[in-house]
Amino acid sequence: MPEFFEDRVATYTARINERLDAALPAAAIRPARLHEAMRYAVLNGGKRVRPLLVYAAGECLGVDPDLLDVPAVAIELIHAFSLVHDDLPAMDNDDLRRGKPTVHKQYDEATAILAADALQPLAFSILAKLDGTSAAVPIKLVQLITEACGSTGMTGGQSIDLDSEGRSLTVADLEHMYSLKTGALIHAAILSPTLLCHDLSDANNDALDAFGRDIGIVFQIKDDILDIEGETQVIGKPTGSDQALNKATYPALFGIEASRARCDELLSQALGNLDQIGTAAAPLRWLARYIVERSQ
Ligand code: IPE
Ligand code: IPE
Ligand code: MG
Ligand code: MG
Ligand code: MG
Repeated sequence: MPEFFEDRVATYTARINERLDAALPAAAIRPARLHEAMRYAVLNGGKRVRPLLVYAAGECLGVDPDLLDVPAVAIELIHAFSLVHDDLPAMDNDDLRRGKPTVHKQYDEATAILAADALQPLAFSILAKLDGTSAAVPIKLVQLITEACGSTGMTGGQSIDLDSEGRSLTVADLEHMYSLKTGALIHAAILSPTLLCHDLSDANNDALDAFGRDIGIVFQIKDDILDIEGETQVIGKPTGSDQALNKATYPALFGIEASRARCDELLSQALGNLDQIGTAAAPLRWLARYIVERSQ
């Protein structure tokens, strides 16, 4: 196994794109416009960070990649649904996503709402159909991922995000919001392979759990920094969107320098958690650094 995960990013990205394509209903199936919009929402680019985290954590634990495809696909479908809703006029009102018109701009608002509505149950039907494991495993995966995207996970975090516009939050409250809206699904991606691993020690499970929490928060702080310092052509979404909406973000409340410092602090804490796992955690170390250093 090569030490650096970078060598395998392109292969895993092609793999997840192929699996997502196969998981989505064909555009020709009625209702065709809805199916087209679902495919547009998912297959229009994206870094595929959450699936890469599933494959990387799976490599750490020696899980068969054929089993990892199912949580990787399901989590990316849920992420895509969350982006479609996030961009709607009722939420962040953004017109550009992954360098292309957002789903409600390309189609219409009702189609965007329905496409996202349909992506979510598709994700859970794929999880429920996982085979090659004991019957308890798909149920545990469904539990892990429903908790991550429900009202005490991603959806709850999005609600707090909207309620926090124009408000000043403490660091603890802001990071709590980040741990829900963005962190929860990232954490679930990292933990999903633990349910597919037969000989996981409690110490390694705890290490991945703690790593997942830190990385989820750092991912959102970096996203906020890119909203200010990134380039639209590179990030594929409008810059300045957070400021225009008076969003409560780390850079808006505490400044860009404090945001960078917090990213570095969380990254080193996250990497420290992986010491427990040793050299097998190299893929996650690489991805953690990528998340903080990325320009898109
Ligand atoms: C953007 O996520 C939304 C956040 C949770 C910050 P990504 O930066 O992973 O978006 P894509 O999937 O690469 O487009
Ligand atoms: C989105 O956070 C988090 C989600 C759960 C979708 P943002 O609103 O900052 O994401 P972008 O910047 O639009 O991708
Ligand atoms: Mg948002
Ligand atoms: Mg947004
Ligand atoms: Mg953002």
